[in-house]
Amino acid sequence: MNVLVIGQGGREHALVWKIAQSQLVDQIYCWPGNPGMDEFSINLSIPFVNEMDSYRQVVEFVKSEGIDLTIVGPEDPLANGIVDLFELHELNIFGPNQSAAQIEASKDFAKKLMKKYDIPTADYQTFTDAEAAIDYVKKLDKPVFVKADGLAAGKGAIPGPTISDAIQAIRSVLVEQNFGEAGQKVVIEEWMEGEEASFIVLSDGNDVVTLPTSQDHKRAMDNDQGPNTGGMGAYSPAPVITDILHKEVIDTIVLPTIKGMKAEGRIYKGILYVGLMITDQGPKVVEYNCRLGDPEAQVLIPRIESDLVPILQSCLDGTLAQTEVKLRPDPAVCVVMASGGYPKSYEKGKKITGVESFKGIEHTNIFHAGTSNQSGELLTDGGRVLGVTSVGSSIQLAIDRAYQGISKIHFDQAHYRTDIAHRAVERTE
Ligand code: AMP
Ligand code: GLY
Repeated sequence: MNVLVIGQGGREHALVWKIAQSQLVDQIYCWPGNPGMDEFSINLSIPFVNEMDSYRQVVEFVKSEGIDLTIVGPEDPLANGIVDLFELHELNIFGPNQSAAQIEASKDFAKKLMKKYDIPTADYQTFTDAEAAIDYVKKLDKPVFVKADGLAAGKGAIPGPTISDAIQAIRSVLVEQNFGEAGQKVVIEEWMEGEEASFIVLSDGNDVVTLPTSQDHKRAMDNDQGPNTGGMGAYSPAPVITDILHKEVIDTIVLPTIKGMKAEGRIYKGILYVGLMITDQGPKVVEYNCRLGDPEAQVLIPRIESDLVPILQSCLDGTLAQTEVKLRPDPAVCVVMASGGYPKSYEKGKKITGVESFKGIEHTNIFHAGTSNQSGELLTDGGRVLGVTSVGSSIQLAIDRAYQGISKIHFDQAHYRTDIAHRAVERTE
């Protein structure tokens, strides 16, 4: 069969790497793809004009080339209805449709869903009027998070530890409109204390299969300092999720979410990513995403032993409960190398060396994120440039291997964190 992967980051590189191992797959295509995927896939040069026109061209390609399965990596195409368009053309595509993707595309929708179905999360209020929102935080007089309702590329959650920070955040979203359309509404929620973990499941609309737990490192600098980023590294499993907690998350969060979505007439097929805070009162939802995390995917995917393609297909066929998903016990660690300055402004076009020395090494993969190939030379082309992902029989071995990998790769002003997976080490000691 032929498979198309949509996306261009480290998550999609990891997906393509895994799909290339499937006995069922003849040819992989990627739109738009990145240079790291070249060895496994043909990257399509369909230009990005606007969402629907580009998606229609992708549909034409899928029909003409006989693509059997399309897999969507990022949230934007899902929220923009690419799945609905494919289904209209009776094409096989993995991911939630537009109405189900609202679970990530609108924080207000997600919070209402949680409230209605009694799913543990922080208390909240939604506002369109800045003065009413400011009144609320003044009366509440507690640390809050101020969130733009819509998709904001991971930058829409602003911490409000003091009333004046919260007021500034409310003004930034509702008055200065720094988030454009995504900031028409603001969700203000109470600040939760605890350790975060990413809990990612596959769903066929009724049943779920849990993928390995993981933890992302969102802040730019060591010791969780500096601004939030898309993620500077990840590890799996996340030992904060004990077996007891795992069951609690399934029973009190994951299944009620899938059932709630079904009851709302928004059958959820695809990946459901639950961002958790493990608080003193138990696990609570920080956010939902309608797709794999990035860089969580880079550590999850190497830990899946089974062929991924039949598993994804079973989500579409409604046969997930009868599908075996074998996982590997070995932990995995991904350390992201970013352009100096990221997540603020940074330069592109720096020459990257050392990547080729990893060919043939089984325990370490270099997943590209923001790279470009200019006449055979590999250059930086984004904030997060690449991720070195290693597996090992212990978390420490996986960490050591990932950092050995990092030491071999060079580009001007490269930045990475030196403490990825430190919490896992502390918990295992
Ligand atoms: P979000 O975009 O909602 O995932 O938020 C981004 C990050 O902000 C999360 O991963 C948390 O680190 C933090 N965060 C968001 N909401 C809260 C909250 N209510 N309490 C504490 N931290 C939060
Ligand atoms: N790494 C966090 C995310 O993918 O949203």
